[in-house]
Amino acid sequence: MEVVIVGSDAQAGQVVADAVTQAMAAGARTLGLATGSSPLSAYRELARRHRDDGLSFAALQAFLLDEYVGLTADHPQSYAAVIRAELVDHVDLDVGRVHSPDGAAPDVLAEALRYDELISSTGPIDVQILGIGANGHVGFNEPGSSLASRTRIKTLTEQTRRDNARFFEGGLAQVPRHVITQGLGTIRGARHLVLTVSGEHKAAAIAAAVEGPVSASCPASVLQLHPHVTVVTDEAAASRLRHADYYRYVVEHKLLEQGY
Ligand code: GLP
Repeated sequence: MEVVIVGSDAQAGQVVADAVTQAMAAGARTLGLATGSSPLSAYRELARRHRDDGLSFAALQAFLLDEYVGLTADHPQSYAAVIRAELVDHVDLDVGRVHSPDGAAPDVLAEALRYDELISSTGPIDVQILGIGANGHVGFNEPGSSLASRTRIKTLTEQTRRDNARFFEGGLAQVPRHVITQGLGTIRGARHLVLTVSGEHKAAAIAAAVEGPVSASCPASVLQLHPHVTVVTDEAAASRLRHADYYRYVVEHKLLEQGY
């Protein structure tokens, strides 16, 4: 696991965008996208590279991690709508090639299966961008999630609903209780996992994910079982990492070479 400790949100965005750009240059066809505030600087940087450098996403397909049950794709807080507004509208990614679970499907259990099979038959996902919840969730795999889980329905914890209430006009009461999320086993199928995190409130979660035991109690700890993971963290989120100095030492020369 490569842990890159950065000094700013913009720098985090560059490191994540570099991972995506390098994978695209090497022939990547499939991107995994996450919502939440953590990947926004990366999406801004990818949009800038599209605008200024002609980076093209036209040949790519993309898969979202998760979706709220009960929200249609045109609801402004559905993840399908959020990813359109934050990334797809600013690059040449064909919206018809951006896949997400349909949270308003009449049979959400069948929808979860359909989505998982679509990923299996189209994938593997070349680069999967991830954030992390304050309780260690990835996608919406809350603590207790099987490390081998596939796409399915999950019930959100109250903490996650409260954390996400800031995005909903009506606050907590409007945050759905259920979601469709790629499972941890599904996420592990991607070739390169790139997790981006910032802020003191995520420090315990990222320490547990990177240095704690591999455990369903911290779903993001499943990353330790993956052969190719990059964690991009600011100083505040890195503040509880015991081996932070070593991670800095390892990436120092590489980052210098790349001009950061
Ligand atoms: C949601 C998403 C996750 C995301 C998490 C953290 O729960 N389902 O994919 O990682 O929020 O969000 P933020 O980056 O806004 O803290």
